[in-house]
Amino acid sequence: MGLIFVFFLFFASLSSALNNGLALTPPMGWLSWERFRCITDCTTYPDSCISEQLYMSQADQLVQLGLAKLGYTFVNIDDCWSEMQRDANGTLVADKKRFPRGMKFLADYMHARGLKLGIYTDIGTNTCGGYPGSANFFSQDAATFASWGIDSVKVDGCYADTTQFSTLYPQFGEEIIRSGRPMVYYCSWPAYMIGHANFTLIAHYCNAWRVYDDIQDSSQSLYSIVNWWAKNNSPLSQAVAPGAWNDADMILAGNFGFSIWQQQMQMGLWSVWGSPLLMSNDLRRISQESLGVLSNTEVIAVSQDVAGHGGHMVYHDDATQIQWWTKKLSRGDVAVLALCMASDAGTFFYASLPLSRLGWNATTANVRDLFNHVDLPKAKQNLTLTLGPGVSSMVRLSR
Ligand code: GLA
Repeated sequence: MGLIFVFFLFFASLSSALNNGLALTPPMGWLSWERFRCITDCTTYPDSCISEQLYMSQADQLVQLGLAKLGYTFVNIDDCWSEMQRDANGTLVADKKRFPRGMKFLADYMHARGLKLGIYTDIGTNTCGGYPGSANFFSQDAATFASWGIDSVKVDGCYADTTQFSTLYPQFGEEIIRSGRPMVYYCSWPAYMIGHANFTLIAHYCNAWRVYDDIQDSSQSLYSIVNWWAKNNSPLSQAVAPGAWNDADMILAGNFGFSIWQQQMQMGLWSVWGSPLLMSNDLRRISQESLGVLSNTEVIAVSQDVAGHGGHMVYHDDATQIQWWTKKLSRGDVAVLALCMASDAGTFFYASLPLSRLGWNATTANVRDLFNHVDLPKAKQNLTLTLGPGVSSMVRLSR
């Protein structure tokens, strides 16, 4: 037994990803934060407050709209779910008014529908919203979550000493494993040290890690994330492996601030990057158009490609705000996404790049348009795609 454990530690230290066998492709599902924040007033906002009703109704929609079948199986709770105080035993308790039947009930509700339940806590003394954090309670909280039947844990980084993160986050991860229940481990660790984080190190301890600022419901926010990823492309892509993903934050299709083109751009980019596809929207009120973006199986296939490679920026031009990204797929295919963030681009225009710049070493390629579900003419030497203001194109190259 002892020997087996030593071998396990040895091999775990060799692998580049957290060895819990989870999230071998980027997790998909729904997360409450961006759309529903910390709304706790259920009298004024009965439909949108953080309550069991909210998670149950979004779960029902995941199933009814066919999203669950496409892979969106996680329903993740974010901040503001607990009572302000732990109980007499130091155990976290779900808010008694908003979650009257407790978290075990909610987890059972999800499991009965083929879904999974995720929860949120913080590595420090408090969550970002001021609720109790897990500092000094790692073991107890991991055991509590396991006893409720939780399937993923997001651990935020407010009210904590960031210089201790390289000890604290691995410790929490160990407690999750010791709890005996498989739970995907999301770390907000690098988002609290932007510009100084070592993603390759973090990949040993977390299934996914938030790399940058919170996304907000505006194209400025989307573009600031895209530009930051462009600058940090190489350390980000080096850390990616099955079970280890850079988290670019939530998918916002179906909300207020992105054009339909930007919704498409976000889905495409996140899929190329291997970021989790956790949408934060209201699935009870969503347009067919946005649903189409979220349900695009050819884009989802890029996200969920089993080879688990990261995305590479192969071209960028700051003046025209054009970027080209690629991702190697299994069986030698390559996904290509070209985007334009310029608001003065006017109308549609063509942009070309030699196939050789796309990591494609043949002179021709079959080109499948993943947004419009059509085959484009075979590419010979160059690939030409259509762009526009805030418009991207995404294709799959194959032999
Ligand atoms: C931080 C996180 C967000 C969200 C809020 C909750 O800002 O980055 O994703 O969890 O806290 O308070």
